Amino acid sequence: MTETPCFKLNHRELPLAGCDPRQSLLRWLNARGLSGTKEGCGDGDCGACTVALLETDPDGRPRWRAVNSCLLPLGFLPGRELLTVEALAGGERLHPVQQAMVDCAGSQCGYCTPGFVMSLFAGQQNGELDDACIEGNLCRCTGYRPIRAAMAQLRAQPVPEASVAAAAPLPSTALDGFFSPVSVAEALALKAAHPQAAWIAGATDLGVDLSRQRARAERFIALDRIAELQMLTVSDCEVRIGAGIPLSRLERELHGVFPALDQMLHWFAARQVRNRATLGGNLGSASPIGDLLPVLLALDASIELAGPGGAREIPAQDFFLDYRRTARAEDELILAVRLRRRPHLRTASHKLAKRPSDDISIVAASFALGFDAAGRITHARLAFGGVAAIPRRAVAVEEFLLGRALDADTVAEAASRLRGEFEPLSDHRAGADYRRALCASLFEKFVAEALA
Ligand SMILES: Cc1cc2nc3c(=O)[nH]c(=O)nc-3n(C[C@H](O)[C@H](O)[C@H](O)COP(=O)(O)OP(=O)(O)OC[C@H]3O[C@@H](n4cnc5c(N)ncnc54)[C@H](O)[C@@H]3O)c2cc1C
Ligand code: FES
Ligand code: FES
Repeated sequence: MTETPCFKLNHRELPLAGCDPRQSLLRWLNARGLSGTKEGCGDGDCGACTVALLETDPDGRPRWRAVNSCLLPLGFLPGRELLTVEALAGGERLHPVQQAMVDCAGSQCGYCTPGFVMSLFAGQQNGELDDACIEGNLCRCTGYRPIRAAMAQLRAQPVPEASVAAAAPLPSTALDGFFSPVSVAEALALKAAHPQAAWIAGATDLGVDLSRQRARAERFIALDRIAELQMLTVSDCEVRIGAGIPLSRLERELHGVFPALDQMLHWFAARQVRNRATLGGNLGSASPIGDLLPVLLALDASIELAGPGGAREIPAQDFFLDYRRTARAEDELILAVRLRRRPHLRTASHKLAKRPSDDISIVAASFALGFDAAGRITHARLAFGGVAAIPRRAVAVEEFLLGRALDADTVAEAASRLRGEFEPLSDHRAGADYRRALCASLFEKFVAEALA
């Protein structure tokens, strides 16, 4: 363990001793007069608090990644390096990102501007000045056109050198009840010693609770330094996804392997959240509207767990038991998700939400169908989120489809049966009837688009 936990902020080494590891980086920055980083929502939704966190890619290259400081507890920081907007300008000169915002009138009231600047900075550094670069930043004044113009100006410029040393592997640390082990064995030993401590991975769910002072746990075991959880193994027949891999890495490194996963990741939150959120966290939260969960059901994923009694593997279909209750024992850690590669299957995912991006699903659906040479259905998975207390497959409709040709009559009958398959809730997002209708219409959309 390191003696005095420190982190690097804007190129200066700062001690973390005496800090509350549950406090968000945003609150800590503001309390120290670094007021450039703004608080809009405190929930990861607006991007006003965006900062750049130095991460090491699997190829060993250091990269600045945009993250929401309101969701980042200080406990994650020992040994890490961060930049806030205060670090970008050099003396009298603005950083090219700031200059582009000035040139294009990308700022009016200015409250959102530091967040946009940091998202654009990370996007520029990583060659990712695309729409997703700013989708996690809200602006109520400009209408976004000038900000897009600033992004276009940056795209045409050379990328300025940001001198960063390759980050050394992060050590195991402990900061007042916030433990950061570096191996699964160490994590399990910590859990045995502190049974009330909660696993915490990207903190995009738990960070909201911490930011709102409603976290149920006092102690945390962080999973982001455990190399075993960061391993992505791709073979001809299978992919094994480490539970701690940030979703934005899956977007980059698994693109094209599972189209249904690509499609759902596209609608999953915003880049700042995807830079931290993990598949293990989506499974750990086990929310009925966890968007990746229908994908795992449709693709027949299996989930690897490790606990004091050893390792075991459970099919995703058997993982979800009841509302936010799973087959994982409290002291078990999700290690990885395994997905078989079956390119002969036709698959697709759809998500319906009130806003096209960065919004909670009304219904999410993921489908997989296989056919024999005569066009009869030999394999059917129709999985949905938002229609029950847990993500669920429409098993009765799957059985109905087996052995049939996917003609207009079959599709109409399957759609009609899907309308009666679940008993969803009505809430402020949507009524039960609408959700039922969506189960049918999303299946029809899948048939029309993926099987055309
Ligand atoms: C602005 C915003 C937008 C979002 N949009 C979406 C969205 O579009 N779709 C969606 O599905 N979700 C969304 N989320 C929720 C969240 O990002 C996801 O659930 C994410 O996958 C959580 O991962 P995490 O690593 O951040 O989990 P954490 O917050 O670290 O942990 C979540 C839970 O999982 C447990 N856990 C984490 N890792 C493990 C592990 N390896 N083993 C056992 N338990 C573990 C933790 O103990 C905790 O109970 C959003 C969140 C925010 C803030
Ligand atoms: S304050 Fe809104 S995303 Fe952090
Ligand atoms: S400039 Fe006012 S919120 Fe964006």
